[in-house]
Amino acid sequence: MVMPIGPLMIEHRTIEKMIALLAVEADSVAESGTVHPVLLDSAVDFIRTYADRTHHGKEEDILFRDLAKKDLSAQDQSMMQELINEHTYARQAVRDLVEAKERYLTGDTAAIEAIVEQLRALVGLYPPHIEKEDKHFFPAAMRYLSRAEQDAMLEEMHAFDQKMIHEKYKSVVEQFSAQRA
Ligand SMILES: [Fe+2]
Ligand SMILES: [Fe+2]
Repeated sequence: MVMPIGPLMIEHRTIEKMIALLAVEADSVAESGTVHPVLLDSAVDFIRTYADRTHHGKEEDILFRDLAKKDLSAQDQSMMQELINEHTYARQAVRDLVEAKERYLTGDTAAIEAIVEQLRALVGLYPPHIEKEDKHFFPAAMRYLSRAEQDAMLEEMHAFDQKMIHEKYKSVVEQFSAQRA
């Protein structure tokens, strides 16, 4: 019996691996005083497309949306709000990271500090966020949903995932063409 939190928890394992790499990268940037922009771009793409759009997308647009219609306990309600706030915080950290990387590319070496700071913000945010979901919020959340509701949710998550690769590469083409225009 697959629960809708199953695929989300599998995605957590992939996010954790990237976050561990970013922890090493933050130390290496801090130590060397140089940034590998291509590596950073691929980390930003991972966080935006996979961790945020695909993963937080399923959490917020499907799981949290349906739970908002349920009579959640005060504790579960406030935990869900905390999780949403943490997603917002992660989005801001990525925006600040991209902005710092752009400053670095124009020759502003002071931007290195901001890059390290935002990398460490993400490294600090994700492991406890994921643990809160895996160990506390997700198991609690499943108790509000019937088997039929869970099945419908799984199907919707699957359809959501199917859209992602098309959305991603459509946006790659659009960005490329905007740069060429
Ligand atoms: Fe989350
Ligand atoms: Fe999550």
